[in-house]
Amino acid sequence: MVKVTYVACDGTETTVDAEVGASVMQTALENNVDGIVGECGGAMMCATCHCYVDEAWTDRTGVRGDGEDDMLECAAADVTPTSRLSCQIRLTEDLDGLRVHLPEEQV
Ligand code: FES
Repeated sequence: MVKVTYVACDGTETTVDAEVGASVMQTALENNVDGIVGECGGAMMCATCHCYVDEAWTDRTGVRGDGEDDMLECAAADVTPTSRLSCQIRLTEDLDGLRVHLPEEQV
């Protein structure tokens, strides 16, 4: 188990326990975290799982994978250098304590 903190756009923080190997999107849905929709179930077809990785964590989450940039063009909120599709971030022990910020809107 690792901890992930989701920071809503109003600053509300929700910290949950997550399974190693699960995605940040899947973990949000399983824990009823508002602000992540995950419409396509993680198939990288929707961009409703957009999140901003906290700058302290971007080295550990790595760079956007193939296709993520294209899909993020469909994101409802502004895309920044720390934007990721949360379904494409797999949790590892190294990501224990990860913080992601949620956009104001997903659709
Ligand atoms: Fe659809 Fe991530 S859940 S792109």
